[in-house]
Amino acid sequence: MTYLKIAGACKLNGQVSISGAKNAALPLIVSSILAKNEVQISNIPNVADIKTLFVLLENLGANYEFKDNFARIDTRNLSKTKAVYDIVRKMRASILVLGPLLSRFGSCEVSLPGGCAIGQRPIDLHLLALEKMGAKIEIKQGYVVASGRLKGTDVLFDKITVTGSENIIMAAALAKGKTRLLNVAKEPEVVQLCEVLKEAGLEISGIGSSELEIYGTDSELLNFKEFSVIPDRIEAGTYLCAGAITNSKITLKKVNPSHLSAVLSKLEQMGFGFESKEDTLTILPAKEIKPVEILTSEYPGFPTDMQAQFMALALKANGTSIIDERLFENRFMHVSELLRMGADIRLNGHIATIVGGSELNGADVMATDLRASSALVLAALAAKGESNVHRIYHLDRGYENLESKFKGLGADIKRLKEE
Ligand code: UD1
Repeated sequence: MTYLKIAGACKLNGQVSISGAKNAALPLIVSSILAKNEVQISNIPNVADIKTLFVLLENLGANYEFKDNFARIDTRNLSKTKAVYDIVRKMRASILVLGPLLSRFGSCEVSLPGGCAIGQRPIDLHLLALEKMGAKIEIKQGYVVASGRLKGTDVLFDKITVTGSENIIMAAALAKGKTRLLNVAKEPEVVQLCEVLKEAGLEISGIGSSELEIYGTDSELLNFKEFSVIPDRIEAGTYLCAGAITNSKITLKKVNPSHLSAVLSKLEQMGFGFESKEDTLTILPAKEIKPVEILTSEYPGFPTDMQAQFMALALKANGTSIIDERLFENRFMHVSELLRMGADIRLNGHIATIVGGSELNGADVMATDLRASSALVLAALAAKGESNVHRIYHLDRGYENLESKFKGLGADIKRLKEE
């Protein structure tokens, strides 16, 4: 296992290129199950979760090539419809194969993902929607066993779910007849999936709204055009927080600022400025870092995936900040690690009160989930002295070339082997 050694109290400068969005790439790669041709995708981030997904597809019988962020995926000879526990347990998003496998083959088995560090994260809404479309769903020996030809119908999601929406959009694509999806997630990643499917010939309307109408092809596969994955808004937000926590001017390249409205608005409230030109965005230092109040919610609200990074940043604010985590019940695992660095944070249920202004000290800390890990890296950059961030395989799941990107910005950061 490796860890990151990070020298603190640094100033950053320069430019960093933002990678393609992991959370967009995952459903887009899975959507190749619906294709009648080889699917070509560029700007795929080379991160562990993507590699896990390719292993899963290969296991089902797909052929693929993935090099220099470009993939060719051929699922025409898919021979199996069972997504095994050993792969699904590594990545919850594997559940995304359920909808497309079922709609293409009329039956499939997908291991239940199980719990994860940030909470229970059930998939009941995915299953209810498929049942509404006519699927028979059983849980057998830890697997979702699904069968039946899917028929278009009205599906109302009781709660907004990102992968749930994506799963059912892909299921509806090959279903028979019209599916109307209500209370659909509006995240840019969901929008890109819809746009790509539309380009591939799917009749779909309402893209970008919470109500979609999809005219299923009745099992006819789609003809995909080559496309490029949208920029990762969470990676971009994380680097903006790195600029902010070190109060440095840095420039992000290959970014889509319109996907970052909630994050930019909170950074502005905290005193930071921005300059933006086409696909670049520069964060300007604050005269005084002000405290902030954050409530996580679905897009276009403030993303839960940026909550941990803003908590680290709030430690540098001149006053007390409040973060209310509304989406995941256990997404404060980073708090106890930040406390080890001298942070003053109080937790009361889903509300964190962060008293800013006390000095952070370098320490050994342990990453617990993907975004919590990036908060620890940010805190380490701002702390006095050296920090070691352990268990960084969490970071490797979602951040491409993290050390080299930070080194390029002037940080002193090394990946070392645990003794
Ligand atoms: C996706 C993102 C993740 C992000 C999250 C919220 C991917 C691969 N992951 O996760 O990074 O943090 O959206 O923006 O895109 N829920 C249910 N039943 C369900 C499904 C969800 O109760 O069947 C609940 C969840 O427990 C949670 C809320 O709905 O409280 C939102 O979860 P959801 O949007 O489904 O998150 P993911 O799609 O797993």
